[in-house]
Amino acid sequence: MMRIATGLAALAFAFSGVVVAQQDADQSGPFYLHIKGSGSDLDGYVSACHAGAAIEGLCYSPGGKPTADKAASYEYYFNTTGSPQLDNGSPAGILFWRLPVQINPTTPFAEQPMTFQYSPNSNVAAPLFGFQDGTLVGFDKDDGNKLFTYAYVDSSTFQPGVQPTTGSYDYKSWFVCWQYFSGYYYQSVGFATTLPPNNPTCQAVEIVQEFVNY
Ligand SMILES: *[C@@H]1O[C@H](CO)[C@@H](O)[C@H](O)[C@H]1NC(C)=O
Repeated sequence: MMRIATGLAALAFAFSGVVVAQQDADQSGPFYLHIKGSGSDLDGYVSACHAGAAIEGLCYSPGGKPTADKAASYEYYFNTTGSPQLDNGSPAGILFWRLPVQINPTTPFAEQPMTFQYSPNSNVAAPLFGFQDGTLVGFDKDDGNKLFTYAYVDSSTFQPGVQPTTGSYDYKSWFVCWQYFSGYYYQSVGFATTLPPNNPTCQAVEIVQEFVNY
C-alpha cells in the first residue's frame, strides 16, 4: 500500500514537472559563458562543439570575447519558470544552445537543453547539449553571476527511514577536463559530483554569465 502511495506521489510529481515545463518560461539571453581558472591561467569561453549527431559538448575555447562572426556557437539562453530558486532569489532553470537547423520558415534553430551525462567510472559529469530534459542550473546574483547546479536534497545527510527535508542546494564544482565523447576528445567543461575529480586532467574553473553586447 505504502509502495503504491509512493508510486502515485512520484507520478504526480513527474506530472507536475511536465505541467511546469509547458508553462510560459522567462527566457534570458543571449549570453556568453566566461571560463576563468581558479589557481591556473585558464581563461576563455564556452563554445558548443560537435560530440555526436545533434549533440554538442561545452568546449573550452581559450582567448577573449568571441567576435560577432563566430558568435552562434558561443551564445546561450536560459529559461526559468519562477521556481525553483536559491534562498537569495537566483532562479534555477534550463540552459540552452540554439542548434542551427531550419525548423520552419521562421525558426532557423532548435533549442537544445544542457543535460549532465554520467559515466559509471567517473565522478565528473559531462554537460552536453542535446534533446534530453535538461539539468537544473542558474546564475548566482550574489556571487558575480557564477554558474551553479541545483539540487533539492543532499544525500550526504540522509538517515535510514527518515524522510529528508527538501531545500535548495547549489554547487559550483566546475572544471575544465579532457573528456571523451564517442570518438571526440575535447578539453571541455565538467562538473565534479564529489571532490577531487578522478580525471587527472581536470583543472578547477569558475563559469560566469556575460550578456552579449556587440
Ligand atoms: C524558453 O522560453 C521561451 C519564452 O517563453 C520559449 O519561447 C521557448 O520555447 C522556451 N524554450 C524551451 C526549449 O522550452
